[in-house]
Parts: sequence; structure tokens; C-alpha cells
Amino acid sequence: MSIAMNQKKDIFLLNTRSSSYAFGIDDQGLVRHLYWGEKIESVEDFEMPVLTEVSTNDPVFEITREEFPVYGSLRYKEHCLKAAFADGIREVVYQYCGYEVIQTEMYEELIIQLKDTCYDFAINLHYKVYADYDLMERSVTVENRTSEVIQIEKLHSGQFHIPYEGLNFSNVHGHWGAEQQRFVQKVSYGKIVIENRRGISTHNHNPYFILDKDATQTSGDVYFGALKMSGNFSGVIEQTQYGETLAQIGLNSHDFMLELKPGETFEAPGILCGYSGSGFETMSQNLHHFALKHILREGFRPVLYNSWEATEFKVNSQEQIKLAKKAKEIGAELFVLDDGWFGERHGIDNGLGDWYVNESKFPNGLDELISEVKALDMMFGIWVEPEMVNPKAQLYQEHPDWIYHFETRTSDTSRGQYVLNLTKKEVQNFVYKMLDDLLTEHDIDYIKWDANRPISQTCLQKDIWYYHIKAIYDIVTELKKKHPNVLFEACASGGGRTDYGILGIFDDFWTSDNTDAYDRLYIQDAYSYIYPIKAMRAWVTDCPNFLSGRVIPMKFRYHSAMMGTLGIGCNILKFTEEDVAISKEMVRQYKEIRPIVQEGDFYRLENSSANQYFLYEYLKDDQGLIFAFLPQSKVGHRGTRVRMRGLEADAMYTLLTENGEIRKSGRYLMNHGLDLRLAGDYASTLIQFTREK
Ligand code: GLA
Repeated sequence: MSIAMNQKKDIFLLNTRSSSYAFGIDDQGLVRHLYWGEKIESVEDFEMPVLTEVSTNDPVFEITREEFPVYGSLRYKEHCLKAAFADGIREVVYQYCGYEVIQTEMYEELIIQLKDTCYDFAINLHYKVYADYDLMERSVTVENRTSEVIQIEKLHSGQFHIPYEGLNFSNVHGHWGAEQQRFVQKVSYGKIVIENRRGISTHNHNPYFILDKDATQTSGDVYFGALKMSGNFSGVIEQTQYGETLAQIGLNSHDFMLELKPGETFEAPGILCGYSGSGFETMSQNLHHFALKHILREGFRPVLYNSWEATEFKVNSQEQIKLAKKAKEIGAELFVLDDGWFGERHGIDNGLGDWYVNESKFPNGLDELISEVKALDMMFGIWVEPEMVNPKAQLYQEHPDWIYHFETRTSDTSRGQYVLNLTKKEVQNFVYKMLDDLLTEHDIDYIKWDANRPISQTCLQKDIWYYHIKAIYDIVTELKKKHPNVLFEACASGGGRTDYGILGIFDDFWTSDNTDAYDRLYIQDAYSYIYPIKAMRAWVTDCPNFLSGRVIPMKFRYHSAMMGTLGIGCNILKFTEEDVAISKEMVRQYKEIRPIVQEGDFYRLENSSANQYFLYEYLKDDQGLIFAFLPQSKVGHRGTRVRMRGLEADAMYTLLTENGEIRKSGRYLMNHGLDLRLAGDYASTLIQFTREK
């Protein structure tokens, strides 16, 4: 049992394999937090402290550790819920009504039932405990049982209390072509806010928080929570005046208003959260394991070839067939036709919305290419951007009212396109039918769903920020029921939709349009803190790289991309014989190590050298890998010592290096470490190792 209760004291204890989370109901009916951290087995240990006011200027709510602070009364810190009732009352006063425990094969769930003291407005706090993964999922549902609309102005999915000051907060910043730039900042008095207001993008920040107490990869306290939401979110970290740090995350209340109609229930996005007492590695591995087992679909992800960087909009059947044949020669298993195949799509300013096959580019239809691809025994994938329409497209001429817009204003374009109002039923039906027809009429295995601009001019509906995203989730969920074998890639101008809301509904993330193998090391490293490797698409592309202008050897480019789900985005028709030979060998090797890369445990290894080595280990059962990169040799002949992790101390390991075989004990490899020296710029190596029986 992971949920324990002290009925007399109304205290609840949620235990995972190695952590505990405790809260209780006090004599006022407030749900008050008690503990989050290392495991404390016994619920009997916990007491509900009696609150005494610090002073008349420090009202009791300010020092009350509330699990779910609501707006109202003498509360001045961040609240999770702000609601207004039809009679103009703008505060919630809840009472505790009871609890329920639900047991499933996957988790145990505790539901705390609250209700407003005056209005029939129910608030249920949900805690799902995934004990084996050391994770929980918190969420909240609100239900309007009154006969009038209740306006929800703010709804964060939960508040967390960490009983320390001076913690480190980490997240990522970035923009197009530079997603997942990890940053760490000290939390001091006041608030740190990360958010997204664009409706469509997580380029700038990602919906999670990590708070640590000077943790390293392998030691120290780490508290984290990742929101299952692809749209507008906000996360607030607040170090209070009373010696603790609060963390909240949920739907962004910016330009938000949910009209909860009589009889309606709204479920706010969940927060996948946990505590690690042994640093970031445990946090990442717990999330990775959980995602592999319970979020991602089974099976290894295919090696992909995508023609975007090779042909851009200038696609045509014969050229794509040539690319497909070459891709097969190299070893790709999936051929993806990117943008440009439909409507009058010759550049960014037309075609979106007109999802018919362009006859001048594909005179014999799409199936000519598809059957060639299938004859090569490859899967076929195709690019779509279903939420968008170009002003010149027929669809827009026929349905000018289908976009987000203001009647008296010029409608905003970005990348030459408008956003379809996906909250309208007829637009949802159009998008669903378009994709259903595409998948029914053609033998398609993979959809790359793109979204290349933010939302704006959202009319009076202030809930579209949520319902637009929900419509995408619903459409893809429905499509998958009918076309269960189709894989969906979540792309939004690169990595603009990398989050736990979309993962599971979609199968892959397009991590970034930045395919520079060196830049990718940073992007991939930051990505790995929260998201599973199996969903991280990474391509090898041509040099000089279109974005960085950098020229990097093929081997380094492959190694960098082989750290995730390998793809190739080069113009392979221009490949030299040597390029083909390297590619064939790298793809062959990737297929061999794929189970370890995609489903193994992932370790960000420490670099002990003055030279900036990037060192990563993957481990699955008795097999493992080390990827080592040295982008630039700065300090003469300085090598590094690779101290491996997760090995069996007393077992012997055989390592296959470029300079031959090495045999060492796990104890040696983890403590002394493997001496490694790469030389020159953009040097890289891949070491495979096996544990001896
Ligand atoms: C976005 C995607 C790219 C590519 C183009 C096509 O930028 O991120 O991978 O699909 O659109 O227009």
C-alpha cells in the first residue's frame, strides 16, 4: 500500500519506493502540507502543527502550508484557484468533505474532496502514486453543481512546499533554433516566473520546475514537477518570508477565463512530480523509466530519412523516389516527405489548408512515391501542419471565419499564415477528416505534425489557450483509434511542443530545427533531464550547417544524432562514396545499439578534464555504451577520465574502443575510471561494453 492514513488525525502519507509526501486536514478543514522528501515509513510520526499568528500583519494563511491555496480571505501569496460566482462573490471558502482511494494496476490514487461552504462548487485534489518509479501525479478537478456559470480565472494544478531557502531553480530558455538551453539560478526572496503565452510553443521555457539543494548528478536533494500541458502554462517559484520555497505550475492565468457551466467538470493538467535524494540522475531516470513503461508506445523507433533540408519546398515525385532509394541504401527504415507536397505550396505563403496532392509535383499522385518506398521495404511518413491556413489558400477563401481574428483589425500573419480556430467544432471536424482521409487513402505509417507560429487575436473566448491544445490531443487520440499503427511526431518549428502533455498522444519530439551536431549536445543534454531518450529525434544533416555555418566531421555528426532516435536529413544524392560508406556503417551500428540507446538507463557523466569533454553512458542489462565528444581541444594533450556509473562492482566488463579491447572490473571503471584522450576538434568516439557472465 502506498497510501497510509491516520484517521484520527486526518493525516495522509503517500509513500513511493524511496520518498514520502505527507499532508493532512487541520481543525479548520484546511488541507495542509506536512512533508516531502526521504521516505518516512510511518504515518503515526506526523502531527498537524497548531498555527499561531506571527503578528496581525502576518496573517495565519501566510504561514499555513496549504496544498491548494485558493484566492480569498487574508491570503497574499500565489494561489492555485481563483473563482467568481454568479452573484459577484470572488472568493472560495472550502470545507473538507472526505476522501477516496482508488487502486489500479498502475497506481494508487488518493482523492481529497473539498466543497465551497456556500456554493455547490466541488474541488477534488488528486494524488496518483507511482510507487515503483518514485513519482506522483498531482492534478485537480473542479465541478460546478450550481445552476449558474462559475468563472475560473486561475487554476494551477497544485502547490509544493520545500522547507528550504536559497535553493537552485533550473529550467531551459531558448527560442527557435536554440531550444533547451539549460539554466540554473539561485532562488532568493521574491518570485521566479516561467511561462508561455503563445499558445503553441515551448521554445522559450519548458513546463517544469526543478529545485535542488546544491545537488550534483549523483547526490543531493532534488524536487521536481513536469506539467502535462502543451499550451500556455505558468510556473511560479516563491521564496517566502517564512523560510520555505513554494512551487506552483499549471495553466497560465494570462488572458485566461474558464466559464464553468452548470453541471460541468474541468480537469486541470496533471503534474508528474517527485523527489530524489540522490541528485539529478535519479530524477531523470525515474522519469525516463516511467515514460518508457507507461507513456510511450512499445517498439523501437525506426531510423528515419527526412527530405526537408535536402529539397525544402521543391519536392517532386521522381526526386523523392531517388532520395528514398538512396536512403534505403544507407539503411533508413522510414522515409518522410516533408513540407511542399500539397496545394500550391511552393514557399511559406500558400498551400496550408489545401490538403490535396499537388499535381505538378506528383503527376501520378502520392501513391507512386509511396509504393516505391514500400517496395523498398521502408515505412512512409508525411508532413502536415493541420492547425494553419495561408491567406491565399482556397480553404481561407471559403472559410475566412475559421481563423482566430478580430473583425475590425488586420489579421496577424506569421510565417505567412493564420491559425485555425480549433475550438470550433467544424474546424475540428475538417482537420480530423483531412487526416483520416489521408491515412485511409494512402499507406502512411508516420505523421509529422507541425505548427509554425504562435496564436494571436483570440476573440472573446479566453479559454481557447487550453481548448485549442485539447482539440489537438482529441483529434490525434481519435485518429489513433482508427489508425493504431501510425506514429505521430510532435513538431512546432522544431522543439516547440516538447512536454508531457503531448507525449504519449504523440510518439516522437522533433527536438529542434537546429541540427548542428555541436549545438545539439547542449540541447540533448538539457532535454534528457526531463524527457525520455526514445522520443528525442536527432538528425545528421549537411555541412556547413544551414544555421550555424559550422563544418563538423560526419563521424561526430552521427555520434551526436545516435544519442537519440537517429534520423538523416542530408541531401544524400550529393553524398560521396565515402559519405555513403560512413553512413552505412553508422546506421548499421545504430541499429545494433538501438535497444540500449532507446531503452537503456541514461547517465550524464562527469568530465574531469580541463578540456570540455561531453560524456554520456547508456546501460541496459549487461550491455552499455559511452559516447564521448571533444568539440575543441584547448588544453594541449589533456585527456579525461571517464568514471562510469551503474555497473556491478564485482563484475568484469569488456570495452570495445577504437584502439582495441579493454577488460576491467566494474569497481575500477566506476572509481578509477577509463582513461580517454581525444585529439583535435570535433573528435568523438563510441565505446560499446559488455558485462561478462
Ligand atoms: C518547420 C519544421 C521543419 C520543417 C519545416 C517545413 O520549421 O520544424 O522541420 O518541417 O517547418 O516547413
